[in-house]
Amino acid sequence: MPDQAKPADRANTTATAAAAQAASAAEATQPAGATPEEPVVSAAQIEHAAALLDAGELVAFPTETVYGLGGDAQSPDAVARIYAAKGRPANHPVIVHLAPHGDPGYWAEHLPPEALRLIDAFWPGPLTLILKRAAHIPAAVSGGQDSVGLRCPSHPVAQALLEAFSALRGGHGGVAAPSANRFGHVSPTTAQHVREEFGGTIHVLDGGSSDVGIESTILDLSRGFPALLRPGHVTPQDIAEVLGEAPRLPDGSDATAPRASGTLKAHYAPRTPLALLPFEALEPLLAAREAGERVALVARVSRAGHWADADGVHFMAAPEDPHVYARELYSLLRALDRANVARILIEKLPDTIEWIAVNDRLGRAAAAFEAQG
Ligand code: TXA
Ligand code: MG
Repeated sequence: MPDQAKPADRANTTATAAAAQAASAAEATQPAGATPEEPVVSAAQIEHAAALLDAGELVAFPTETVYGLGGDAQSPDAVARIYAAKGRPANHPVIVHLAPHGDPGYWAEHLPPEALRLIDAFWPGPLTLILKRAAHIPAAVSGGQDSVGLRCPSHPVAQALLEAFSALRGGHGGVAAPSANRFGHVSPTTAQHVREEFGGTIHVLDGGSSDVGIESTILDLSRGFPALLRPGHVTPQDIAEVLGEAPRLPDGSDATAPRASGTLKAHYAPRTPLALLPFEALEPLLAAREAGERVALVARVSRAGHWADADGVHFMAAPEDPHVYARELYSLLRALDRANVARILIEKLPDTIEWIAVNDRLGRAAAAFEAQG
């Protein structure tokens, strides 16, 4: 895997026993030199959360991408509880999260050689693979489809929880987890975001801020050719380097693509109206704003010029680096919702592959308002 594609490597714990895994996770979230505010998840908290999952309850937990709202993937009741908490339609499939020692072959009908190569290259990490579902796995987790989405997260707290839960299920536990937000909202990248979504109703493990900041790349391998369903930190080039073949891109031309809520056009939306345009197209909107109207402007400092200091413009500097932008994106959208502005104007990033994931999420946030007309 090329270096630039690797999320911060605070993961890769290899302890075999769940308890050791949990203990090492507690250490891993408090590296040498950590500030006192650095959250720590204890082995006892991991055991408690795993027991909740075992009892069919939900637990929100950190991953390197975003926080997930987890439930026992093999319990249709637990999966139904996830849908109910999120307010999400029940025909949408949920990703199954596996422990580092989990066996993807248990969940899939079979593992094609492409899957093995990608797992080898990118797991644990922010890549979800869609494969044909094994017959003994309940269809509820796939929204009734014949496939299953599998991912092994690299966050040490996620890994500790998954190992502990899996151990309670003879090594075959998997945790179904969509992003821990209400349907259509911005995904959470901190424990506080999760609490804002659900109040005190959901048990949350606090593992700090998510490093990657946007949801995993989703690659469909269930249809005989690799197809990108959702861009993310692992890029199409990263995948092509491993497979020797570029994945099909989600350009809307593939009518056989399975349903995926992350692929709905309008999604990931803040509550304030948002427009996404190249900077040249934002300038006339800024110039034409009404007296007394407060608008937020999100643009790279290198483009914003004098608009950064203009009256009535709440300027927020956009990161110039795609990975940094991704990490900060959802916190930024949440902050913009609190900024008390009438409109949010965001600079559309260049149409290059390095910006594909950030442009994708921003485009969906903007589409939510285009759809309302
Ligand atoms: O980074 C992530 O993937 C985060 C963290 C928590 O792991 N999870 C996440 O889940 O983003 P969610 O449910 O918000 O988005 C998962 C996407 C959805 O668009 C879902 O429809 C799609 O994955 N998906 C899951 N299983 C699928 C399947 N069998 N076939 C097609 N799409 C699937
Ligand atoms: Mg989501």
